[in-house]
Amino acid sequence: MSAKDKEKKGRASAGDAGAEKTVKREYWKPSNMLYPVPAVLVCCADENGRANVMTAAWAGTICSDPVMLSVSIRKERFSHDIIKRTGEFTVCLTTEAMAKAVDYVGVRSGRDIDKFALEGELKLTKIPSEKIAAPAVAESPVCLECVTKQILELGSHDMFIAEVVCSNVDPRYLDENGRFDLSKAGLLAYSHGEYYGLGAFLGKFGYSVKKKK
Ligand SMILES: Cc1cc2nc3c(=O)[nH]c(=O)nc-3n(C[C@H](O)[C@H](O)[C@H](O)COP(=O)(O)O)c2cc1C
Repeated sequence: MSAKDKEKKGRASAGDAGAEKTVKREYWKPSNMLYPVPAVLVCCADENGRANVMTAAWAGTICSDPVMLSVSIRKERFSHDIIKRTGEFTVCLTTEAMAKAVDYVGVRSGRDIDKFALEGELKLTKIPSEKIAAPAVAESPVCLECVTKQILELGSHDMFIAEVVCSNVDPRYLDENGRFDLSKAGLLAYSHGEYYGLGAFLGKFGYSVKKKK
């Protein structure tokens, strides 16, 4: 439907309940503005045990049973070939305290430096995973250990579709009832080229339909 037709339809049905309204919008070329997204750390290790870490924002949950996620990685990334060969990687959640390191390992390549040997604010502590050879990051509240099931060559990015074989978590976030309380972690979000904290708590899953007591 053309913009003009849409405008006409809006006018024709004005006054009806649920009628489309005519408002001013702009229509741009296709974009990746599906924001906010997490900025995660993707860790891998080559056949000689040399570890690397990169930042990825094009990552997401894709299945609950089996538990699966995807990460889209450009072929030119140093991590790409390592993950393609080994079929293993971790996806580690990040926090506000990790923001500078997250940015840094997303603009420097493991081809040139050992990103696990950084110091100070940029320090990321490499720890072993439980089920795979790729390492995890101690500062991360949750590291998902992944085994690649499929690689989709989409264009600019190859999408690694993987099964999560272990959830490697920081027990500091367990509350007194044994509940995993991620609200204390200060998770990091990425939106339109910028990093943010999560902001104010607004409600729990399903709160919109919950009966008031
Ligand atoms: C916030 C942020 C998000 C990024 N998201 C992705 C991504 O989803 N996929 C990708 O291939 N590169 C992404 N990058 C770029 C890589 O992290 C970057 O090129 C990194 O240097 C690759 O490291 P490597 O060469 O050691 O593998 C992102 C960078 C930043 C800072």
